Amino acid sequence: MFMAYSVTAKIFHWGVAALFAYGIIKQVGDINQLEDIELLKFEIVFATTFLLILAIRFIYMRTTQTSALPEDTGLFQKFAARIVHLGMYSSLALIAISGLMIGLLYYSGYKDGLLNDALLGLHEFSVSFSYLLIIIHALAAIYHRLKKDGVWSAMVPFWRENI
Ligand code: HEM
Ligand code: HEM
Repeated sequence: MFMAYSVTAKIFHWGVAALFAYGIIKQVGDINQLEDIELLKFEIVFATTFLLILAIRFIYMRTTQTSALPEDTGLFQKFAARIVHLGMYSSLALIAISGLMIGLLYYSGYKDGLLNDALLGLHEFSVSFSYLLIIIHALAAIYHRLKKDGVWSAMVPFWRENI
């Protein structure tokens, strides 16, 4: 039997995707932009809100929902899906945490130094890593759509299968 995710799960999935896209579009282009105190405050509020929503989503998904992967999916594939999902949560959280630390450091008057550089490196690494995982995730979703096993339609509101 084909099981879809709850409406709440879909709102979390696409809402976090939209917030993330917004964060990417609005990204800080240069550390000196943080001189603008309003931008600095906005970035800190945004990253905190993002982190909170991500944490609530994680708890909600773990406690109420299960993967739409068919029962007979191989162990390796189940494991790979789990790793990619956990990896996305972790890298998204790391982007926000490292961003917050950069912001708080800057706010406290430490505007450059080894720690700032390390945090910036971590911030940029987690951004690149999240892109890689999201590409793998989207390709895997398309693979399931072509297999017509119900995984795509459990989460995606368009190009749905007739099941
Ligand atoms: C690019 C378009 C996307 C498509 C087509 C897509 C599709 C899907 C599908 C079909 C599932 C269900 C998988 C299953 O039941 O095992 C799913 C789950 C999931 N997706 Fe996506 N997704 C997309 C973007 C994203 C983005 C941008 C993120 C992270 C920011 C993300 C994070 C997740 C996570 C973590 C799950 C596991 C369920 C959960 O814990 O929320 N997805 N996605
Ligand atoms: C969820 C929240 C955030 C997202 C999605 C995000 C996203 C990004 C992205 C995509 C980049 C470009 C990375 C690259 O070029 O490889 C970037 C760079 C940067 N971000 Fe963030 N960021 C977030 C939070 C923050 C916060 C809270 C701060 C500090 C207040 C911050 C400060 C910076 C700085 C200083 C750079 C580097 C600019 C440079 O190259 O000089 N970010 N961020």
